[in-house]
Amino acid sequence: MLRSVLLLPVALAALTAASQRPPPPPPTARDAPFLPETTSGELLHLHRKLVGLESVTGDEQHIGLWLAAYLRDRNFTVELHETAPRRYNVLAYGEKRETSILVSSHIDTVPPYWPYFYNETSGIIGGRGSVDAKASVAAQIVAVEGLRAHLYDEISLLFVVGEETGGDGMRHFSNWNERPPYDIVIFGEPTEGKLVCGHKGILGFTLSITGKAAHSGYPWLGVSANDVLVEALAKLLELREQLPWSEKYGNTTMNFGRIVGGVASNVVAETASAEITVRLAAGTPGLVQSMVIDALKDVKTTVEALGGDLDVRRGSEGYPPVNINCDIEGFEKMTVNYGTDVPNLKGNHKRYLYGPGSIFVAHSDHEALKREELEHAVLDYRKIIIAASKMDHQDQDEL
Ligand SMILES: *[C@@H]1O[C@H](CO)[C@@H](O)[C@H](O)[C@H]1NC(C)=O
Ligand SMILES: *[C@@H]1O[C@H](CO)[C@@H](O)[C@H](O)[C@H]1NC(C)=O
Ligand SMILES: *[C@@H]1O[C@H](CO)[C@@H](O)[C@H](O)[C@H]1NC(C)=O
Ligand SMILES: [Zn+2]
Repeated sequence: MLRSVLLLPVALAALTAASQRPPPPPPTARDAPFLPETTSGELLHLHRKLVGLESVTGDEQHIGLWLAAYLRDRNFTVELHETAPRRYNVLAYGEKRETSILVSSHIDTVPPYWPYFYNETSGIIGGRGSVDAKASVAAQIVAVEGLRAHLYDEISLLFVVGEETGGDGMRHFSNWNERPPYDIVIFGEPTEGKLVCGHKGILGFTLSITGKAAHSGYPWLGVSANDVLVEALAKLLELREQLPWSEKYGNTTMNFGRIVGGVASNVVAETASAEITVRLAAGTPGLVQSMVIDALKDVKTTVEALGGDLDVRRGSEGYPPVNINCDIEGFEKMTVNYGTDVPNLKGNHKRYLYGPGSIFVAHSDHEALKREELEHAVLDYRKIIIAASKMDHQDQDEL
């Protein structure tokens, strides 16, 4: 933790003096832009370019290479890490590779792609990824560029692939043995401009039933996998009421996301399955998995006695609820129910989660945000970076 940072105290003093001016008023549609015109222009241009580059998960090559070139042009040192063929994480820093602060978001989006638009009358900017998470990416880059005079060698930027489908990009970075350690990591996801104090955990599993096919006129000659699945799901509906909860995160929820079974109405179904996601408000994936197995014990015994099978297969590793630092004044705070890359980066750094735009439009066909939100986020990222690094240095002084 004790990395010497000679420049920092001076820089922070200068920035603190500047920040003692009255804070800007809250954003409204009619407000003048928050940023100097050139900065605002760069922000809008960068955001437009990023949204215009299609980057559905798995297809992040173009955006990765474009972003690397953009950052190199601005005198960042850039490393491209190929996490899988033609998929690159982008790591950028000044001259020093080992920095105390990392600012990070993701460059992949959910499908389908749809193009950028900007309505200058309403100030609304939309398109796939315009919120999740290219608004964060653009605001983070512009925020860090503005701090470079003071914190040039203390901040790195990391933009990863694969966040939308389980975080393989961030896990690749996390497991990479040449990765520098960081004291502070600031993650960007749509949080409506609030600081997030934590998010729910996750457990994904597939329930698979094997029965025995037969003519539907003689169902006793078969074992209906569909019947068994319906019984199993009924048990899980009851279990829903008993799942762990907490004051901070509310109730654990269980979604039957996809159910498939059988081949035709006149055939006794041989196979059936359900894909289920649990969002954990308390407890661990292991605990909830054992509750599920316990709830299905009797159904399993019955179907096995008939020569069939019931299997619970866990999806990815999952994780318990994720607590996140939110000890910075001047921000609204909240918790969220979606997953992020926060738990995928191992280490005992302090972590923050903040970003412009709302999760409620993020994966929708009307993904959009206001220009003011984007601009405001630049200032907020700077505030977070400065406040977090100040606290970090106070911690170190006390050692
Ligand atoms: C990058 O560095 C070069 C050479 O020192 C300088 O001329 C240029 O203005 C810098 N560009 C930016 C965006 O800072
Ligand atoms: C832009 O926004 C204004 C104000 O909300 C609206 O009247 C107009 O129809 C929008 N233009 C387009 C092209 O959607
Ligand atoms: C949690 O579940 C209980 C019982 O099912 C319900 O009464 C309560 O409103 C739920 N709380 C939240 C925050 O949704
Ligand atoms: Zn996201």
